Amino acid sequence: MTLQECINCGTRYPIDEIVYFCRKCGDILEIKLDFDIVNDILKKSGWRKIPLSVWRYRDLMPIGDSSKIVTLNEGGTGLHKCNRLGKKLGLRHLYVKNEGENPTGSFKDRGMTVGVTKALELGAKSVICASTGNTSASLAAYAARAGIQCAVLIPSGKIAYGKLAQAIIYGSKVIQVRGNFDQALEIVLELSEKHRSIYLLNSINPFRIEGQKSLGYEICEQLDNHPPDRLIVPVGNAGNISAIWKGFSEFHRLGFVKSLPKMTGIQAEGAAPIARAIKTGSKKINPIIKPETVATAIRIGAPVSWKKAVNAIRDSGGTAETVTDEEILEAQKMLSRLEGLFVEPASASSIAGLKKLVENCEVDKDERIVCVTTGHGLKDPDVAVRTSEKPLEVDAEVEAIERVLGLKKVVSATV
Ligand code: F0G
Repeated sequence: MTLQECINCGTRYPIDEIVYFCRKCGDILEIKLDFDIVNDILKKSGWRKIPLSVWRYRDLMPIGDSSKIVTLNEGGTGLHKCNRLGKKLGLRHLYVKNEGENPTGSFKDRGMTVGVTKALELGAKSVICASTGNTSASLAAYAARAGIQCAVLIPSGKIAYGKLAQAIIYGSKVIQVRGNFDQALEIVLELSEKHRSIYLLNSINPFRIEGQKSLGYEICEQLDNHPPDRLIVPVGNAGNISAIWKGFSEFHRLGFVKSLPKMTGIQAEGAAPIARAIKTGSKKINPIIKPETVATAIRIGAPVSWKKAVNAIRDSGGTAETVTDEEILEAQKMLSRLEGLFVEPASASSIAGLKKLVENCEVDKDERIVCVTTGHGLKDPDVAVRTSEKPLEVDAEVEAIERVLGLKKVVSATV
């Protein structure tokens, strides 16, 4: 039987019980599939005929009632071979998995389609999350689609404009908290324990992770079942790296792939408790009280899923790296200009981290590498405009345009 299981003490909980932390030891939970049953179902279901998307993997999702599925067509995002960027970095096999192509512009939609479906299955009438922006945009959209109430807590003045616009327009109750993401998360954790009618949809919720694991499945399939040597992903609250690793590991367990990638997490220098723990070989993280970075999506000091992330990195033989704001913004431009992929700053940290790892000879030039870019560039237009050259302004005359384009004057022939 598919169950929820504590990652520390192994205590198990039924799939339809609302429980966010283990009642015995307080650690976080994960979904354990019953592979005997899943294997049988997969053999008969014809899943390979369904187009690439989260719900192609419906048989691997812990959802009972298909009629309740809340979807906006998430997943099936592009895996782009990046030859020009690869050449610039000295790499031969570089790909970017561009999650900005999801319905609300980030990978969060993979988790929310499953999470909000689960909310309906459990009979929830309202959902809540704390967010640095993308989770709130995504939850607000899926709650609207499902017709249930939604409240989102965001750090006041610290979320990108596009994300704020999304959360508002989808009609959720948007609450700006005078504090940072970590404080907002503590509040929603307490609220959802206290008021059991409100269903919590932060990535602590293991059903969200189930949706996000499809990112790993898709990469396997897009590379003809030869996973990359290395997977590089930005890390904030640490749900996504854990989810992607779960996806790869499950495909491995099912015998669909023969190898696993080295999971490589990138954090912003001012918000890097996990990267620090990996670099120092520490068993625990030291939370950052006042995290700071231009990449507001990953401005997180006390990642709730840190243990899952550390396990994923260590078990896979991967690593973690930190990048400065300057490196992030440079990478954002480089990816836009060399590949036509406009991603938000947090997403560009995977490219910045890769560049640093190559420079430090920690990545081999022949490795097959996939960088995940987690959110669309239009989420944060202010940063892009602020850090780029101002557009030229000229009079509305052909000559003025010729001048700025450096075009020679052409003397027109007279008849
Ligand atoms: N990239 C983007 C664009 C994000 O929005 C996030 C997280 C991450 C990376 C990190 O993923 O938390 O699973 O390690 N954003 C959350 C939010 C925290 O509220 O939108 P993670």
